[in-house]
Amino acid sequence: MKNTVITIQQAKEQGEKITMLTAYDYSMAKLIDEAGINMILVGDSLGMVMLGYEDTLSVTMEDMIHHTKAVARGADNAMVVADMPFMSYQTSVYDAVCNAGRLMKEGRANAVKLEGGREFAEHIRAITTASIPVVAHLGLTPQSLNAFGGFKVQGKTETAARKLLTDAKAVEEAGASAVVLECVPAKLAKIVTEQLRIPTIGIGAGSGCDGQVLVYQDMLAMFGGFKPKFVKQFGAVGSLMKEAFQKYIDEVKSGVFPAEEHTFKIDDEVIEKLY
Ligand code: KIV
Repeated sequence: MKNTVITIQQAKEQGEKITMLTAYDYSMAKLIDEAGINMILVGDSLGMVMLGYEDTLSVTMEDMIHHTKAVARGADNAMVVADMPFMSYQTSVYDAVCNAGRLMKEGRANAVKLEGGREFAEHIRAITTASIPVVAHLGLTPQSLNAFGGFKVQGKTETAARKLLTDAKAVEEAGASAVVLECVPAKLAKIVTEQLRIPTIGIGAGSGCDGQVLVYQDMLAMFGGFKPKFVKQFGAVGSLMKEAFQKYIDEVKSGVFPAEEHTFKIDDEVIEKLY
């Protein structure tokens, strides 16, 4: 059954946890979809994990549409949410609606996600008025990396915690269908979750959220180097893949691969005529 804004809302109301993972291409979307996930996020994290940028700021609408199209073709049941990249909605309400529309019309997303609170309420209202569901994103919003001065936990002071709560209520009021809470203290995320009607999806925001999201390369240990505190590695897939690549290299070099069973036959008579 296709997951939609209605089914994720029902999940919250029935106390059933919502699951979300990122995907950026067809084959990974298909695997994750077949595993039974509720939502797939085509995150602008693709700038880092797929394109090798140091942050998400250089990701374009064309990048997002290209990857969203591939994911949508692999997601039969999951609700596909596409990130609105940096400067695709901050510039004006008009740009926000046009670019959200492109992610739906060309990318075939089921919803869009944008970073920011009450300052983007007008944008969210206009996008939802165009019948495009919006997932808001609060807390650590990576597109504001330079304004924050780095990747830091958000909402730790009373003022910051109150602002986060007000922002969450403002995006709900504006028509958002869900809110991602990134790097927010668990107790604050729980209060936000209790006070909102719409689902909260946490990443580094504790178990009190209505759902959880992770970047798949992080949870499969495929992206070397830094592991954020909130990531749990559910499988050492990165090292398994590296071992398989090394085995392939060794077998090609030593002539073990390809073997007889990997080759196609031709009649010897044909071959003899070639000499
Ligand atoms: O871009 C992304 O992958 C995200 C998640 C980290 C929530 O926004």
